[in-house]
Amino acid sequence: MAEAARGFGVDVGGSGIKGGVVDLAAGRLVGDRHRIDTPQPSTPDAVADVVAEIVAGFGWEGPVGVTLPAVVKRGVAHTAANIDKSWIGTDAAALFAKRLDRRPNEVVVLNDADAAGMAEIRYGWPGDQSGVVVLLTFGTGIGTALFLDGRLVPNTEFGHLEVDGHDAETRAAASVKDEEELTWEQWAPRVSRYINALEDLIWPDLIIVGGGVSKKADKWVPMLDVRTKVVAAELRNTAGIVGAATAAAEREG
Ligand code: BGC
Repeated sequence: MAEAARGFGVDVGGSGIKGGVVDLAAGRLVGDRHRIDTPQPSTPDAVADVVAEIVAGFGWEGPVGVTLPAVVKRGVAHTAANIDKSWIGTDAAALFAKRLDRRPNEVVVLNDADAAGMAEIRYGWPGDQSGVVVLLTFGTGIGTALFLDGRLVPNTEFGHLEVDGHDAETRAAASVKDEEELTWEQWAPRVSRYINALEDLIWPDLIIVGGGVSKKADKWVPMLDVRTKVVAAELRNTAGIVGAATAAAEREG
């Protein structure tokens, strides 16, 4: 039997950089992912070194998709909420292509939540994608990916909505739950408050919640007091890697 098409994705987060080989037909990792702590400071060069180490560790020579926790337009990072500020204005696609010794069309860089959302829409929730679907990733920050009838509107930064006078992610990200040692009962109302603010603005038909905490969705999703249907991400914390690999494979092809 022919080997299924494979791709490679790297998900750069505020605390960890994770990568692995992806089965593009199934939208699943082939084997384990490899995780290395995000270097501090998380400068472009330091992160590129780790990305190269992860790719080399798998002996991977094909196209690579890389996510960043940032607005990314045409390969250039424009924001840097949870990563070193020197990313702002950096041509990340050119940097990774050089460091990975790839042609420019072999490397795609995209926002982490957009990558995760693309993977969820394609592989996790292949059924009804009509209407407005939003993926929220709860991690170091809050990432958002907005879809209309299955098509991504890239670089929405709804995690930075101002809610009750605060940048929303500084109150409701999963990292805040850890830092303030909040219980699920204490954290869930903050998430509800955030989702309520978002609902009032975009009236989604479905909300998919992702990030590490989606593994424990049964502990907090039932406590949410929101009007939209909320489901846990199917791909759990591999969605960013899978989405990045998919984006790179599509660019190449
Ligand atoms: C960033 C987004 C990112 C999200 C999740 C936010 O702070 O502004 O670009 O998607 O964190 O990492």
